[in-house]
Amino acid sequence: MASPPRVAVFGSVNQDLVLRVQRPPHPGETVMAKSVERLPGGKGANQAVAAARAGALVQFIGSFGEDEVGAVLRGRLRREKVGLTGSMTVPGPNGVAVIIVDDTGENVIVVPPGANDKLAMTEAAESVLTRVDMMLCQLEVPFEAIVDALRVSRAAGVLAIVNFSPVPSGPFPPELLELADVLIVNEGEARELGDRLRGATHVVTTLGARGARYRGPRGEASAPSPKVQPVDTTGAGDVFAGVFAASWHLGPEQALRRAAVAGSLATLVPGAGNCAPTAEAIDEAMRKAR
Ligand code: RIB
Repeated sequence: MASPPRVAVFGSVNQDLVLRVQRPPHPGETVMAKSVERLPGGKGANQAVAAARAGALVQFIGSFGEDEVGAVLRGRLRREKVGLTGSMTVPGPNGVAVIIVDDTGENVIVVPPGANDKLAMTEAAESVLTRVDMMLCQLEVPFEAIVDALRVSRAAGVLAIVNFSPVPSGPFPPELLELADVLIVNEGEARELGDRLRGATHVVTTLGARGARYRGPRGEASAPSPKVQPVDTTGAGDVFAGVFAASWHLGPEQALRRAAVAGSLATLVPGAGNCAPTAEAIDEAMRKAR
């Protein structure tokens, strides 16, 4: 059997405070939550867990708070077989995300970044980034740190996959696009980036319940999502990105198919950090879809 792909995920780690409501409040309105839960999250950590469950050897490079939340999240990633070499622990609180999920499974998210804002390139992180097959990052940590990680990856000949999420509300360094070998965006993010996506070698666009499409040097492909009744779409995009990275060695089309199936399975499980399916569950759903 071929050895599993080695993936470094460079990004955020949060504790998600998940409020379930019938519908989100309008501006100026108060609504009552049906439940409140504290769950593991953060786009980076979610993608790391998704890639590990899909069979990759994963190192997560992120910044944890020196509080109890940070300790809990570190322990939880280790139990998921995600290595933390290159991660840092900094004074102050861990990142948190307040997530409001409505009865249709849709969500809105607000993130006080906490320790994520202090993520920076270190010697340990650099050494991890030069010893993997690919680096996967998102945009919930400082741009400067991401650009440093992208430069290290480029210099080492390591494939860089950038999940351009969340799309920055203001200006951002052009290197975030220029140094990406593969860009993963959702439809809204693709609209906001517009023409700036043209220069990218490989572009993957997720289409929610409709699946995903890919365009690259050898052409285009699309993959449907199996029809499901979602209970919570939070984290489905992270699962897509993590599984896509873990499956890249199979070729872009197969990676797209696996990621689309995994993303739709993720919507059946509440919470973002724990909704990634195993490689076996993905295989089984793909067999059924055929
Ligand atoms: O993509 C979902 C994630 O975004 C949540 O886990 C939350 O922490 C925010 O980072």
